Amino acid sequence: MDHVRFGRTGLKVSRLCLGTMTFGYQCDEETSFSIMDAASEAGIDFIDTADMYPLGAPSELYGRTEEILGKWLAGKRDQYLIATKCFFPTGKKAWEGGNSRQNIMRSIDLSLKRLGTDHIDLYQVHSWDANTRIDETLTALEDLVKSGKVRYVGCSNFLAYQLARSIGRAEVLGLTGFESVQPRYNMLFRDIERELLPLCEDDNIAVIPYNPLAGGFLTGKHLRGNPTEGSRFTLGFAAGRYQARYWHEHMFDTVDQLREIANETGVSLATLAVQWVLANKTVTSPIIGASRPEQLADAVIATHSPMSPDIKKRIDELTHDYRFVDDAR
Ligand SMILES: NC(=O)c1ccc[n+]([C@@H]2O[C@H](COP(=O)([O-])OP(=O)(O)OC[C@H]3O[C@@H](n4cnc5c(N)ncnc54)[C@H](OP(=O)(O)O)[C@@H]3O)[C@@H](O)[C@H]2O)c1
Repeated sequence: MDHVRFGRTGLKVSRLCLGTMTFGYQCDEETSFSIMDAASEAGIDFIDTADMYPLGAPSELYGRTEEILGKWLAGKRDQYLIATKCFFPTGKKAWEGGNSRQNIMRSIDLSLKRLGTDHIDLYQVHSWDANTRIDETLTALEDLVKSGKVRYVGCSNFLAYQLARSIGRAEVLGLTGFESVQPRYNMLFRDIERELLPLCEDDNIAVIPYNPLAGGFLTGKHLRGNPTEGSRFTLGFAAGRYQARYWHEHMFDTVDQLREIANETGVSLATLAVQWVLANKTVTSPIIGASRPEQLADAVIATHSPMSPDIKKRIDELTHDYRFVDDAR
């Protein structure tokens, strides 16, 4: 597994990042461990999580994913780079969510405890917080870096203007600021190509996109009609969100056309989807997800079989309309 420079930092991360949001709800602990073992064997040593995972679960389970990851990391913490996030509410109190100094200071300590570690390698705010001045957020994050609890900070789900404002305020305040962004990005959701990616390229901000397989939709395994039981598309509270994002006739039509290109090039559709994300020069490491260990193989193959420029161009043309979407989240 290749390692690449993390934006403008001196850090090197594996070309794939492992996502964990299936751990503790869709996957039990044993399966979660086997997914992490498989990722590690493939050379992936960069792992992303969040304080509010597992995905789709009732609120009593918030934090369970970090606990499972912490248990797996015991005795080998120094072998992996760990990224986590805060923002979404994880408690009943009004201040137990958002990017305020209060919630950031509270959330980091809870994450450190669950993960069984004394530091987080990449601490990210999970979303823009319209109720908190970005100066307050950036200053609190800087304090975490200075205290040694956090090595680098990043953001997720920011629009380009929100990132641009954050970069500007960090410069004015003399703070390190965000080293990375974590946006949604795949062949069916290309909105970030218009403004966010050019900004990241200009400022050398690391890009670690989530949903490269559109939550499994871009594996081509789903058939029109009712969503497949046991998959992301029927998963608890997340089912509606994922159906709204991808379960559409025109997207099934696109998948059929992409399947033909995959067959022509001799790779699975899942491999093609990851190859395409990796082929974007501004992308650092896509975050791949799995509900079973054997699912990782398709993404791993993509890291050592780059997409040809001709195929990239054909797919870019075929999916051009997905650059223009109403839903930027
Ligand atoms: N910042 C954010 O707001 C945000 C949002 C979403 C995700 N993330 C991060 O990004 C990570 C990855 O996101 P994601 O899980 O949506 O990524 P993804 O790679 O698009 O989807 C992964 C899902 O696709 C299916 N799948 C994967 N490989 C497959 C294969 N070879 N064959 C068949 N099905 C396969 C599995 O779902 P089924 O088995 O259920 O079909 C798997 O859980 C998350 O774990 C999390 O760390 C962040």
